[in-house]
Amino acid sequence: MNVSTFKIANKLITGNGGTEKLLEEVHRLRISNPLIVTDEILEKVGVVEKVTSLLKGLSYDVYNGVKPEPEIYLVEECKAAFQKGQHDGLIAVGGGSAIDIAKSVSAYAAYDGKIDELFGTDLVPQKGVPIIAIPTTAGTGSEVTNIAILSDTEAQLKKGIVSDYILPDVAIVAPEMTLTMPKSVTAASGIDALVHAIEAYISVNASPITDALALGAIKMIARNLPKAYANPNHIEARENMVTASLMAGMAFGNAGVGAVHALAYPLGGRYHIAHGVSNALLLPYVMEWNKISCIERFHDIAEALGENVSNLTDAEAADRAVEAMYRLCSTVGIPKGLRAFHVPEDAIPEMAEDASKIERLLKNNPRVFSKEEIEEIYRSAY
Ligand SMILES: [Fe+2]
Repeated sequence: MNVSTFKIANKLITGNGGTEKLLEEVHRLRISNPLIVTDEILEKVGVVEKVTSLLKGLSYDVYNGVKPEPEIYLVEECKAAFQKGQHDGLIAVGGGSAIDIAKSVSAYAAYDGKIDELFGTDLVPQKGVPIIAIPTTAGTGSEVTNIAILSDTEAQLKKGIVSDYILPDVAIVAPEMTLTMPKSVTAASGIDALVHAIEAYISVNASPITDALALGAIKMIARNLPKAYANPNHIEARENMVTASLMAGMAFGNAGVGAVHALAYPLGGRYHIAHGVSNALLLPYVMEWNKISCIERFHDIAEALGENVSNLTDAEAADRAVEAMYRLCSTVGIPKGLRAFHVPEDAIPEMAEDASKIERLLKNNPRVFSKEEIEEIYRSAY
């Protein structure tokens, strides 16, 4: 077995009602004046109030400027609010965008240089103020990973801060925080979590620990995503989805994600297609290409997706895994084809060029893709 390390948020609190533990954790981390990092919609629908009502006796401020697929300037804006209010901790309430902004601000508020100098791996010089992450979607896994992804609109690229110093101190993963998620977000973020688990399971850096988490997550997502999509108030399905997303986060936070994410980033960077949707558009096609590189692993994935594969060969089971992915994406209403999102066909070579440069992710993928092969995958997904 290869040497591998396993790192996650320092403390995980899960289960219905988990947010009740917030104040205890704030005190334990000696935060006296937190900045809540969130967006306007969550504020409007009362989710932020659910959190602030728990902060009895504390002063706090709310930064509600988070936007989907967050741009770098939002980190500057949030850092300014953080410094102006003399805050000593960050509580992210939202999906991956809010959590990634909070993680970036924790690193950047304590840094004298430019944010550009933090993009890359292990470039954050020290631990910043504590971060408590409270996800309101079930997909990102950002609450347990050491990565923050931001959009550089000028360069039309996604950039990442990767550092163990931005691992959240506490993740509170509670289904009651995900009930307001619209159907489309339930679907896209749920498929994103599925992609995290599948890519972690077939990653060249997979370990027995990440395998157990990834397979467990695939099984829970296949069983619960359609239920949560069909009925947003299905608390058991919501609880299973938010827990599966956390498990998938722990798996990919250590084993990494691969070609689906690498090919999805140009769709987000250039055409602002939401992260989960970009992944969903590519998942079955990339997997079709990936399956020959680790066919037994696809047998396991098919089984975890609920397919009856007991009398099938690995190759037959792998086909069933890919079919099950198509079916699940269509069950939760993900439109098919890049065409549906007005991606111009003649942009494919440039997207393939961009994707082929994302070595950080492609190096985890079990199959090595040339730029020409990446172009072919985009064409098959068109
Ligand atoms: Fe993702």
